[in-house]
Amino acid sequence: MVTTAFLALLYLVDQSSGMRLKIQGQRNVQTRHELLPRGNINGTTALSNNADISYYANLMLGGEVFTVLIDTGSSDLWAAGSVTDSIDTGATSGVRYAVGAVKGPIKTSTLQFAGYTVQDQAFLEVTPDSDRKKGSGLIGLGPTSGSNIYATLNTSVGYAVLDRIFLQNTSTPNYMTILLGRAEDPTDVFPGDISIGELLDSYSNVESEPKLKVTMVPVRDSRNQHFQVLLDQDGVLGPDGLPISIITEVQQTSNSKQATVVVDSGFSLSQVPKYVNMVSLRGMPNEFTAWIRSIADAIYSRFSGAEYHNITGLGEAWIVPCNEEVNITFKFSGNSYHIHPLDATMDPSPLGLTGVVNSEGQSSCIGSFQPISFSTSGQQTFDMILGMSFLRNVYAIFNYGDFIAGGNDTSNRGNPYLQFLSTTDPSEAHSDFVAVRLNGNDTTGGQTFNGTSSNIIDDSSHEYAA
Ligand SMILES: *[C@@H]1O[C@H](CO)[C@@H](O)[C@H](O)[C@H]1NC(C)=O
Ligand SMILES: *[C@@H]1O[C@H](CO)[C@@H](O)[C@H](O)[C@H]1NC(C)=O
Ligand SMILES: *[C@@H]1O[C@H](CO)[C@@H](O)[C@H](O)[C@H]1NC(C)=O
Ligand SMILES: *[C@@H]1O[C@H](CO)[C@@H](O)[C@H](O)[C@H]1NC(C)=O
Ligand SMILES: *[C@@H]1O[C@H](CO)[C@@H](O)[C@H](O)[C@H]1NC(C)=O
Ligand SMILES: *[C@@H]1O[C@H](CO)[C@@H](O)[C@H](O)[C@H]1NC(C)=O
Ligand SMILES: *[C@@H]1O[C@H](CO)[C@@H](O)[C@H](O)[C@H]1NC(C)=O
Ligand SMILES: *[C@@H]1O[C@H](CO)[C@@H](O)[C@H](O)[C@H]1NC(C)=O
Repeated sequence: MVTTAFLALLYLVDQSSGMRLKIQGQRNVQTRHELLPRGNINGTTALSNNADISYYANLMLGGEVFTVLIDTGSSDLWAAGSVTDSIDTGATSGVRYAVGAVKGPIKTSTLQFAGYTVQDQAFLEVTPDSDRKKGSGLIGLGPTSGSNIYATLNTSVGYAVLDRIFLQNTSTPNYMTILLGRAEDPTDVFPGDISIGELLDSYSNVESEPKLKVTMVPVRDSRNQHFQVLLDQDGVLGPDGLPISIITEVQQTSNSKQATVVVDSGFSLSQVPKYVNMVSLRGMPNEFTAWIRSIADAIYSRFSGAEYHNITGLGEAWIVPCNEEVNITFKFSGNSYHIHPLDATMDPSPLGLTGVVNSEGQSSCIGSFQPISFSTSGQQTFDMILGMSFLRNVYAIFNYGDFIAGGNDTSNRGNPYLQFLSTTDPSEAHSDFVAVRLNGNDTTGGQTFNGTSSNIIDDSSHEYAA
């Protein structure tokens, strides 16, 4: 019963020591006028944004408030503390994340979330500790097939939160939307919103964006089913605007040049293919291999002063001098989604990481698209995970289609899909970068990139017979 649920905050953990990175509250930026939360309408709840590395929403269980991380990469609800007004099912369960785990008794109580009330919602009651403070928690918004509570109880009592909401009123459209704010942004100040069954005002254009069909993992891996879609061929544009090569490691994909991308609000640093030096290229004759660099190397190594660095409290990661502007773009169904340069590299100081400098002593920012940092066992079901550093650039619809547990109308709900509306205008983003990282002095014209955007080194001397 392997669970690949992904959690960003826990990514920012020194894996060897298990020491948690200390998050020093909110980003230390000058006070600005915060927009009022737009969470006062039915179906919508406001998020709070902690330093761009975790996004929280409030919910109530048994009348008590919990502040929970929003995680589309897992499917269970847990709360740290004791919910007085709850019923113990007598069963226990747990969830293991990419880093870290929780376990506890499965209880049920009345849940209030995003304007909906659900009776007898199942959740894990977790004993508070220094990492999981009383009153904190996590809401897993992924498909039911990934729910450990459901797997343990094996009855409708164990259905995940969104299933319960969608099933209790089949007139509720079965989608959720997420909009994440950017703490450093000088012009668009909002923490974020999540909505269920309705669109946020002024973002309804998202409905005319292409529907990106969720790709299904093989039945034997159904516990690893996530919201995952295919990136376009040549769908990652590097800092010079040219595509970075990708060869998928997912066997089911018919076009080997299309990466399978998990969209996971639980990762602050997106995870891009690592690739070992020598990779058997899918779709090529068995004996053909090539040297291929990580997508992260192909993005960051081209900047002057960029280094792959072991950062205390974080581990190995690409760093880039903070005054260098990294422009990258992802493409889905022919649409371009530009990544804001304030998202492509993150200022480490508000994260409590100090003294991040390269070997020349330049203060450096952390690349927010890093090589995959954990090992996946067995058949690979995805190539990359686009987390918060991507999601801050789109308004996203997650349509659950027939990802709904039980019920007899599920066959009418259609296929699950995602829709992305780009929220980043490249030229405005550039101005933001100049204002925030360069104190208004646009020196980016003097930036040069090293090497080429191709990450496949086509060198026949590296061929070997299988
Ligand atoms: C929210 O929904 C309830 C019941 O469905 C309704 O009575 C109330 O007017 C709604 N509030 C808003 C702000 O739409
Ligand atoms: C779950 O319940 C169904 C029928 O209710 C049963 O067929 C199945 O074997 C059960 N699965 C497990 C793992 O207990
Ligand atoms: C079910 O949802 C529809 C559409 O959102 C709403 O009009 C209706 O009042 C809801 N019914 C109940 C019983 O909540
Ligand atoms: C370009 O790459 C070469 C060789 O890898 C390296 O020595 C040099 O420092 C790089 N220059 C920049 C500007 O990154
Ligand atoms: C990074 O540094 C930490 C201690 O500072 C060390 O324990 C760890 O092994 C290092 N990681 C690598 C990959 O060198
Ligand atoms: C199936 O549909 C019938 C009629 O609409 C309803 O009474 C029943 O509760 C539904 N069953 C489930 C499991 O949703
Ligand atoms: C990044 O993109 C913006 C918008 O297209 C452009 O103005 C800027 O010059 C680019 N920066 C670099 C370093 O290429
Ligand atoms: C802008 O930066 C450049 C390069 O560092 C410097 O030469 C110039 O004086 C700066 N201009 C202002 C107005 O600070």
